[in-house]
Amino acid sequence: MHWHKYEKIWLVFGILSLVVFLSIVGVTAFSHGHTPAGGMDTIDPEKVNETAPFDNPGVIQIDDNTYEVVIVSMAFGYKPNQIKVPVGKEIIFTLTSTDVVHSFTIDNTKVNMMAVPGRITHKSYTFTKLGKYLVLCNEYCGAGHHFMQTEIEVYE
Ligand code: CUA
Repeated sequence: MHWHKYEKIWLVFGILSLVVFLSIVGVTAFSHGHTPAGGMDTIDPEKVNETAPFDNPGVIQIDDNTYEVVIVSMAFGYKPNQIKVPVGKEIIFTLTSTDVVHSFTIDNTKVNMMAVPGRITHKSYTFTKLGKYLVLCNEYCGAGHHFMQTEIEVYE
């Protein structure tokens, strides 16, 4: 008899979870029109420059051990074009694009982010060595693609 009760509870719980899940998916898909699978953050690519945090790209200290770097990529460059971050701290890169697909690829690291218009991508990385790191665009994005680069300076 006891088991019956538990089964019922689980069944109700399962149905409720499903309903909640479906409504979240439905609401998200509706409000954004074209949400890609995976539930990523989305943004209107035409309004990047007036949408937080991209209205103020740059390095933001979140706490003693965490920094966020907000980057806008566009043909053919990145905003800001000067990035300085401390060594040994968690750096969260937050990226989007205003036009076509670019990448934000930091040389000699595992950071290889896609900058997709309409999407916001995040990547966490901790630099262990001081110095200057070249950042390149690895996605062919047009005539200026080969010149699309910037630099990150990692300081003590
Ligand atoms: Cu941007 Cu290639």
